[in-house]
Amino acid sequence: MFSKLKLSLVTAASIAALSAPATAAESTNFMIVNGVPVNSIDEVPWQVALIDGSAVLRRQFCGGSIVSDTWILTAAHCVEGAAAADIDVLAGTLHLSHGGQRVEVAEIVIHSNWGTTGISNDFDTALIRLAEPLTVGEPIALADDSTPLPDGMGLRVSGWGAIFQSGPGSNDLLLVEVPVYNQADCVAANGASVTDQMICAGFVAGGSDSCQGDSGGPLYTIEGNPADARLAGIVSWGWGCALPNRPGVYTRVSTVEEWVTKTMAMK
Ligand code: ARG
Repeated sequence: MFSKLKLSLVTAASIAALSAPATAAESTNFMIVNGVPVNSIDEVPWQVALIDGSAVLRRQFCGGSIVSDTWILTAAHCVEGAAAADIDVLAGTLHLSHGGQRVEVAEIVIHSNWGTTGISNDFDTALIRLAEPLTVGEPIALADDSTPLPDGMGLRVSGWGAIFQSGPGSNDLLLVEVPVYNQADCVAANGASVTDQMICAGFVAGGSDSCQGDSGGPLYTIEGNPADARLAGIVSWGWGCALPNRPGVYTRVSTVEEWVTKTMAMK
């Protein structure tokens, strides 16, 4: 566990990094394993928490992204086997304990290719239709084939998940910066289980990563204003968390963007 002192030092370092986004190479100290608190939900207005729908207490188990006022994009493995009543969505707050809007789920739609390719976590994508429109938060635009995501490009991932492997989650939303990992190197590091529907992000040396409980949450571009951000990935899986040569693996949003758009239009 981190001491409070250490946590506040990391936070102070992040303030400089936030005002002048560091390059991937500079940001090794900018670590959701070793994450820094998000200062305002306006920095990540699309972030939501998936929480236990049957409990008054907000028990968070996954993340998600607002893609319209009635649709949340998340990971299929987060919602597989769940009924709509099992899940509520919490939007518009950094804090699990208070604030924000809690909304019930009307429908869960899992990607049509999930579980069909014989490869674990392939097409790890699902949409959640809300029972009522959100009055908080903002949608994020999806990356498509024309969104450049070159190796080394700094992306951000946020969530309430574990702050180290097998560690506790965070009550306050954390973010971390991770560079796009070369696809061939990711395939080499993780074997053939990394498909074209996945994008990897992390440092070769490890240290910064998403982790258990962040799944379903957003990996997004950080050039320009939050309003310019594109959703590049959905937190999906990884070998441990933050280990060297084991980048986090994310659903590659450009490969599911068409399904997402079509599915939302159909309902
Ligand atoms: N599968 C995990 C979850 O359900 C996410 C793991 C992400 N791991 C990583 N090393 N990036 O929360």
